[in-house]
Amino acid sequence: MQNFFVAIIFLFTNFSHAFSLSTKDLNRIDSLIHIMTLDEKIGQMTQLCFSTITLDGSKSLDLNVANFRESVIKHNIGSFLSGSDNYDKWFEFITAIQKIAVEETRLKIPLIIGIDHVHGANYISEGTIFPHNISLACSFDQQVVAKMANICAIETAPIGLSWNFAPVLDVGKNPYWPRFYETFGEDPFLCSEMGKAYIKAYEGCKDILPVKLSACAKHFIGYSDPKYGYDRSPSEIPSQVIWEFFVPPFKAAFDAGVKTVMINSGELNGEAVHGSKFLLDTLLRQRLGFKGLVVSDIKDIERLELMHKTVENQKEGTFRSVDAGIDMYMACNSYVFIRDMRELVAEGRISMKRIDESVYRILKLKFELGLFDNPYPSKQLLSNVNQTKNQIEAREVAEESIVLLKNDGILPLSKGKKILISGLGANSKGMLNGPWSFDWLGAPEQLQPHSMNTLYESIQNKFGAKNVKYVELEGISCEKDKKQFLNAAQNSDIIVLAIGEKPYSEFMGNINDLTLDKIQLNLMDVAIKTGKPVVVILLEGRPRVFTEQADQINSILFAGYPGIMGADAIVNILSGSVNPSAKLAFTYPLSVGHVSPYYNKPSEYNIYWKNNPIRKNLFPFGHGLSYTTFEYDKLELSDTLLTEENQEITATVTVRNKGKRFGKEAVLWYVSDETGTISRPVKLLKYFEKIELKQGEEKKVKFTIKINEHLSYPDKNGCQILENGFFKIAVGTLEKRFYLNK
Ligand code: GLC
Repeated sequence: MQNFFVAIIFLFTNFSHAFSLSTKDLNRIDSLIHIMTLDEKIGQMTQLCFSTITLDGSKSLDLNVANFRESVIKHNIGSFLSGSDNYDKWFEFITAIQKIAVEETRLKIPLIIGIDHVHGANYISEGTIFPHNISLACSFDQQVVAKMANICAIETAPIGLSWNFAPVLDVGKNPYWPRFYETFGEDPFLCSEMGKAYIKAYEGCKDILPVKLSACAKHFIGYSDPKYGYDRSPSEIPSQVIWEFFVPPFKAAFDAGVKTVMINSGELNGEAVHGSKFLLDTLLRQRLGFKGLVVSDIKDIERLELMHKTVENQKEGTFRSVDAGIDMYMACNSYVFIRDMRELVAEGRISMKRIDESVYRILKLKFELGLFDNPYPSKQLLSNVNQTKNQIEAREVAEESIVLLKNDGILPLSKGKKILISGLGANSKGMLNGPWSFDWLGAPEQLQPHSMNTLYESIQNKFGAKNVKYVELEGISCEKDKKQFLNAAQNSDIIVLAIGEKPYSEFMGNINDLTLDKIQLNLMDVAIKTGKPVVVILLEGRPRVFTEQADQINSILFAGYPGIMGADAIVNILSGSVNPSAKLAFTYPLSVGHVSPYYNKPSEYNIYWKNNPIRKNLFPFGHGLSYTTFEYDKLELSDTLLTEENQEITATVTVRNKGKRFGKEAVLWYVSDETGTISRPVKLLKYFEKIELKQGEEKKVKFTIKINEHLSYPDKNGCQILENGFFKIAVGTLEKRFYLNK
């Protein structure tokens, strides 16, 4: 009998492209679920790593056909993730596995393949690598993020990688956290805006139709502020702070239609998030209304037993997670989940209804992405990939994302200068592409793209090889290093040091001290002592502390991990071909003892000793210099009294380019609530807009203050509170007060 239904389904499947009616697809899902066996359903809820089915157990794509057949035919696995190879190998591999899935399995359900293309198509050898999110956020331009997401979709779609585990929407409140560079910074509004831009561009990419791709809002929730900085260590975050700072980026993503969510591997307020029915059902589904697919993070059901110790064994972990709301388990390399699920159903602890909920979401996603119509890679889309054009775009994105933190006039560098370049990132491609580039921790130097330039090569190209001297030193660790460096410095006019952090990912990047390592600090000290002007390029995933040196260095650029064209982008800024316009999306700490986002209230010291305010940071959130000068003038409010619920205030400010060259300026608008029943942040970013101004040009920039959107705040239950009283709007160097009396 079931074969009869299969024939019906098959018939539909082959004519589905004639019908794009979603109601028909939804009916097909119900029909499929109706005839699926329990094992077929549990298989759809299980995701394996490609390393389980490749010949050598690595990410490189040589298929172990026997292992693969066992996974999809015997275990009915419906999803795989994580490989890294060139287009040809990807094309061959995905074609082979989808063919087996849709031709040899009973119900011919296509696979959905997940990938971490978190800063471009970074697991494709020919992929265009962009700066990581922390730098994209520094652009303060949603179009920059959208451009990156669109190119990532264009380069990813041809090989049938339908599900991208991006963007990270965790708020970067803790720079010790080794995934800080994956965030869009410390501000919830900035994270929301950039996340929305990413999701709309990626899931709405028109250049790849009829292929559609899914993004993934991760990692829900409270992952990015571990109390002691280590990845996957416990977070203790008050409910009100969760609602005001951690929920908004995810809510914005849901409102933008993101199709999937990945769960935080850590603990929040004593609960292992993967086992928390409150977080995964009450908060995520009921309060925030997310209706899409919830995927676990990798092997996180095992972690409930092995790391969090909130369950006695994996089977209890399976019950806890699935009961809480996990739809698909990223099991990676184990079939134990399948066995446990069978037993839990047999014991009546997990109902078929609960399983059908998850299978429905999984099949719905596969239908929405067109996988039932065509699961195969597309030669035609592959022919559309234009790496040359994409790399130019990647350079422009990097140029918009590099922050000029300090400049005493040394930059831009004039031609003919004798330049000494040295330091950890001076001649390294890996330090430019950073982590998650061709491999989890970033590929070794010899496996980085041959075509890309290192900083040393780009500087030679721009300033002339005869004017550039490279000393291969990561830092000064002995007298010999010092001597070698000083000899080279003697005949140089200027010293450029590429300082920072070798790429790291997740727990591999745990640190105990935010201070830069001694040998790099020594290199800067030796360079400063030469008396020659020193320019430091920071290639790092988080703001490592180097205050004593920073205060003596002439010019500093924060470049993060600027990507495959990062060297050319940096050099275009050093030479003045490009006028830098980025601003910090995070606070750069002065010391390891005071690491605080911009919105945190200062101590009373800053209130009662205003004449000698304590220095709170090395560089503040929103700081970024230009080679021109912008002046803010005439901040005007359409009203200074709000009495009606739907009343608005239009704030306008004039921004003028007083300098001698074209420039871009991110105009950041902050609102402060002067008095709240609970302590309110010093100020919060509520709007930003990037404008372009020619020399001498001025523009009026407008921000409309909406009472509920911009003046209310959530209480500990997530209920919006609106309180009468004085508020302040601040932009540039100006601020004005207004009163709410509703
Ligand atoms: C990792 C990360 C997650 C990633 C997943 C799949 O552990 O936490 O961000 O998407 O595994 O690679």
